[in-house]
Amino acid sequence: MLPDSPQRILESLSTAVLVFDVELRLMSINPAGEMLLAASARKLTGLTLNELIADGKDFAKVLTDTLRSRHPFTARSVRLRLFGGQALTVDCAVTPLPEGTAGGALLVELSQIDRLLRLAREELMRDRQTANRAVLRGLAHEIKNPLGGLRGAAQLLERELAEPSLKEYTQIIIHEADRLRNLVDRMVGPARPYRREPVNIHEVLERVRRLVLAEHPGGLRFECDFDPSLPELAGDAEQLIQATLNIVRNAVQSMQGNGTITLRTRIERNFTIGGKRHRLIVRVDIEDNGPGIPPELQEHVFYPMVTGRPEGTGLGLSIAQDIAQRHGGLIECVSRPGHTVFTIYLPAESEHD
Ligand SMILES: Nc1ncnc2c1ncn2[C@@H]1O[C@H](COP(=O)(O)OP(=O)(O)OP(=O)(O)O)[C@@H](O)[C@H]1O
Ligand SMILES: [Mg+2]
Repeated sequence: MLPDSPQRILESLSTAVLVFDVELRLMSINPAGEMLLAASARKLTGLTLNELIADGKDFAKVLTDTLRSRHPFTARSVRLRLFGGQALTVDCAVTPLPEGTAGGALLVELSQIDRLLRLAREELMRDRQTANRAVLRGLAHEIKNPLGGLRGAAQLLERELAEPSLKEYTQIIIHEADRLRNLVDRMVGPARPYRREPVNIHEVLERVRRLVLAEHPGGLRFECDFDPSLPELAGDAEQLIQATLNIVRNAVQSMQGNGTITLRTRIERNFTIGGKRHRLIVRVDIEDNGPGIPPELQEHVFYPMVTGRPEGTGLGLSIAQDIAQRHGGLIECVSRPGHTVFTIYLPAESEHD
């Protein structure tokens, strides 16, 4: 059955529809629009475009031009930033309404495309990550068994050695076997199952901040921009500390211990991860003003063994991503020189696996 009025049709559209008056004040918005701008129609109606969109100047110009020329306007892949910090990429169509229309002067339709791009990218990343982890686990098992034998034999040999100076060699074998075992253990993650306890993400971030400041006294500055209304998560605090620490340590290393790291928390509503729609998501941004991720690495930083540091193992981010995924979440990053942001998305509901 068809909806029974134009209003009902508008309400069931998945495209965001916004109607502005000649002064670019929002007069009405449909539910898809509320979702896109992450606020209710009650809050949004009456605000000007500049109050709705943080970097709305260029967009406002497009609307004013359309009003003046009275020619409809469409544009693809327009980037908009909301006041909560969230960036959107939308396809947009702006249509001037006939003069004297009571309901408004301009009709703006926005369809979010970055959500679709993100979903496709994310699915690919999750598949690869799962395949990678399976290979790593198999490899780790195959390495650990002979390694135990090697270490044990070196210890036995050491006891039999009459010449103490030769122990230097058995010590090298033992030391290197231990190093390799630690590496393999890091690759496969903790042996214990993940806990699922109430976690206050701000406590997690505070622990990480203090740990990193203790490692790098002087030169490093933290700025915290926390949303106090954030709900608790159900998760494994130790693992979430590990994931955050891996990201923050990378930032510190890239800035060589000198620079500013911003920790920001926000709530996202109606957000899809791994094909599952979540009502509430906790978003954590970890931002640094270092040189940025080298362009040739950007696409691959979450894969194991990808590193840009001579002494790096390339495991930190793949471990962090694995931890986020096991909490039902996801980590993304954007980077340019002077501005790198890693964003951790974690569902606030407890029914993840
Ligand atoms: N904030 C950042 N700024 C610049 N480059 C970064 C940043 N975060 C990560 N990278 C790049 O991504 C690479 C991969 O990071 P990852 O943490 O996975 O491995 P790693 O730091 O090299 O080694 P590990 O963490 O295992 O000791 C880094 O080597 C670095 O080149
Ligand atoms: Mg690292």
